[in-house]
Amino acid sequence: MILSASRAPRRSLGGGTSGRVLSALCAAAALSIASSARAAPDGGALFAQNCAACHQAAGQGIPGAFPALAGDVLVQGPAPGAANVVLNGRGGMPAFGGYLSDETIASVLTFVRSSWGNKAPPITPEVVAAVRADTGAEHPKSALQAH
Ligand code: HEC
Repeated sequence: MILSASRAPRRSLGGGTSGRVLSALCAAAALSIASSARAAPDGGALFAQNCAACHQAAGQGIPGAFPALAGDVLVQGPAPGAANVVLNGRGGMPAFGGYLSDETIASVLTFVRSSWGNKAPPITPEVVAAVRADTGAEHPKSALQAH
């Protein structure tokens, strides 16, 4: 009897309006966690979106047009070298400084440096930010474009 009396208020909380509000809030929280997980930069997806059209899906490039990033010396060399090319462009390579955030460039380069047999340590957003500042590279116009 004591048990059922103490369960009663909980049951009405769970089944009533406040319960529905609570579960809606939980669903919203779960959704926002899921979407923030999606928004976290995924180097492989970023490469596919921004780089693979020229450098090809396996980083093999197109001889005579787009250099291979697989096995590339500059890609696997000191972090600022690759960050500089992506931020400022070079020759036929477009500058990404005005489109991609430090975090995004760090993620895509970390992916490139550890894929297709490449073996170089990750690049941090701080290194990209330092190269951006040193070289006067453009910044993304708004947070919305910094994907
Ligand atoms: C429109 C085609 C194009 C796109 C898109 C592109 N690149 Fe390039 N990339 C080039 C070309 C062309 C070169 C060679 C530039 C030169 O000869 O100076 C190059 C050079 C590079 C280099 C220097 C390689 C070396 O050894 O000197 C790196 C690193 C690089 N790209 C990374 C990237 C990354 C990462 C992305 C995506 C964020 C990307 N590129 C997107 C065309 C492209």
